[in-house]
Amino acid sequence: MSIQKRLVGSYMVVICLTVLILEIFLIASVRFYYFHNVERILMNQAELSASFYQQYFAGEDLATQSERLLSGFAHNSEAQVQIITPSGQLLQDSNGVQGGLSMKEYPDVQTAISGVPGIWKGKDPVTNEPVLAVSYPLQALEDGVTLGEVRFVTSLTATLHTIHQITVILITVGLLVISIVTALGLLLSWTITRSIKDLKHAADLMTEGDFSIRVRKRYRDELGSLAETLNMMASRILKSEELKNDFISSISHELRTPLTSIKGWVITLKANGRDNQQLVHEGLDIIEAESDRLTHLVDELLDFSKLDNGRITLQFASVDLEQLIRQIASQLSPRAVRQGVALDVEVIEKLPHVQADVNRLKQVLINLLDNSLKYTDPRGRIVIRAYRNQGNAVICVEDTGAGIAEDKLANVLHKFYKADQHAAGSGLGLAISEQIIQLHHGELRISSTVGKGTKVHIFLPIGSYRSVFSAQKVE
Ligand SMILES: Nc1ncnc2c1ncn2[C@@H]1O[C@H](COP(=O)(O)OP(=O)(O)OP(=O)(O)O)[C@@H](O)[C@H]1O
Ligand SMILES: [Mg+2]
Repeated sequence: MSIQKRLVGSYMVVICLTVLILEIFLIASVRFYYFHNVERILMNQAELSASFYQQYFAGEDLATQSERLLSGFAHNSEAQVQIITPSGQLLQDSNGVQGGLSMKEYPDVQTAISGVPGIWKGKDPVTNEPVLAVSYPLQALEDGVTLGEVRFVTSLTATLHTIHQITVILITVGLLVISIVTALGLLLSWTITRSIKDLKHAADLMTEGDFSIRVRKRYRDELGSLAETLNMMASRILKSEELKNDFISSISHELRTPLTSIKGWVITLKANGRDNQQLVHEGLDIIEAESDRLTHLVDELLDFSKLDNGRITLQFASVDLEQLIRQIASQLSPRAVRQGVALDVEVIEKLPHVQADVNRLKQVLINLLDNSLKYTDPRGRIVIRAYRNQGNAVICVEDTGAGIAEDKLANVLHKFYKADQHAAGSGLGLAISEQIIQLHHGELRISSTVGKGTKVHIFLPIGSYRSVFSAQKVE
């Protein structure tokens, strides 16, 4: 069953029930009110008449006074007035009906004969009209003996007509309410199901692989925010799709360059290598370097997939950071010299040993220095600084290189991201470095200004020897 049907259905059931109960109550009240009113008027008149009789006529014979009594009683009433003998015989009738008729079969008359006022609702046997009759005993003042009855009869046709009209009005209003509520319910459910249909349509297309579709956000409600989330998801998938394609093309390019160079040198050596030792040396050196580049690339890719799957385990040991930094600086200084870049180490204070995987830390520092060397022009400067800060050992690699634009800075830590698509590299270095630092329960932060240079800070916790160690063991 669709949401729309369920929603409108339950809505309708509640409203119909409410309206029905209310209508029944109202109609019953109206009927009671009108009938009760007529009854009360007749009863008042009958009571008044009876007390009038008791005051002034009780001593006289009912039969002889009946005509005078009738004109007195009927004077103030629009109802039909009858005077009846104690035995139930009709004496006088304001409608001019002949006397002598037996009235005993009417229940109200029977009650009145026994001395109690009686009420009867029924059909007039002559006109077949609905009527209300009230009979009241006419009693003697002293002993209360019933000397006769006065009977007031009124037609209920007008009252029933009024009740009928009010009932029609009430039912019409009820139906109007139900139809307005139904229309509103349909509208409301339509606004909901419309958004859901949009979402489903978009989700269907996404299942088929079309992530360019965007869901329209119709209202600012939960469904609207779901639409936004779905759109965001689709654009993320598109973005990662794009990254994947970029990665494949850049990785093919990265693989192709050393391979082309290796193949070129192999061909050259085959043709001319036999009698040119120098050429052979030069060629083999280049082939070796290019093979190293290939190995580095493949290692990086393997590392990355391992880190991404959480399959890597670190070999924690006590590491002397200062020694490590100096070692790496001297390892890379020939390249810095070659590029005409100054590479300096500034260890501001004595650093305690930290628990770390020394090879992985080396890898991180080499990645950072490789970046700085790549993006710093000759006569530039790279500084590796180390100091303590609030329970952390901080290593900062700062360069005076090209810098990274603000809008790109947030992405450089993403895998496969390169600010310049044509630059050398796979875009994995920083992503891997960040993951390694995170495995050390530390943090890697990068800040940069275009044209001025880049700073990368690594924070490594000092005191948490045990927590780091035990967390690692659990993994
Ligand atoms: N010191 C820096 N100066 C300027 N740009 C930088 C610097 N470090 C990183 N970048 C930018 O960030 C991008 C991502 O760097 P990352 O180290 O992750 O990848 P890569 O150096 O391109 O490739 P890889 O390190 O895998 O060989 C770089 O392509 C570059 O655009
Ligand atoms: Mg790099």
